[in-house]
Amino acid sequence: MIALASDHAGFAYKEKTKELLTQLQIPYKDFGAHSSEASDYPDFAHAAAVSVSHGECDRGIFICGTGVGMSIVANKHKGVRAAAVESVAAAELARKHNNANVLCFGERLLQWDAAEKIITAFLNTAFEGGRHERRVNKIHSLTSC
Ligand code: RB5
Repeated sequence: MIALASDHAGFAYKEKTKELLTQLQIPYKDFGAHSSEASDYPDFAHAAAVSVSHGECDRGIFICGTGVGMSIVANKHKGVRAAAVESVAAAELARKHNNANVLCFGERLLQWDAAEKIITAFLNTAFEGGRHERRVNKIHSLTSC
């Protein structure tokens, strides 16, 4: 189950992401926003990040104007590893090396075709484990999250 979140600035791409996930037959839960009316990204990012932190959702895709605000909020939550990315290469490496479980990006920074490729890379790339596992474990063992 994929947790989806946006604010007004990411709303249109969140709706497109829902269409993409439906095509791919991947279930999702939409934590809002539910319109392009001005809203506050932490409201939706916190709710969706809790669902990843608690294991209700395996991964998340959070979209705002830049992806930055969403990633800052998401990374406050225990067990969440959110990556704000703007390229397929970064999305792949965020999975391979960081085992990122939340993808964040900005509707104001990416064309939809680029965003779609980034989402696909995030969904299809596995964590490499090995030396990266030790490092990822340290993210959580050396901090409260
Ligand atoms: C909203 O204007 C914008 O600040 C927000 O979507 C996001 O980019 C914050 O990081």
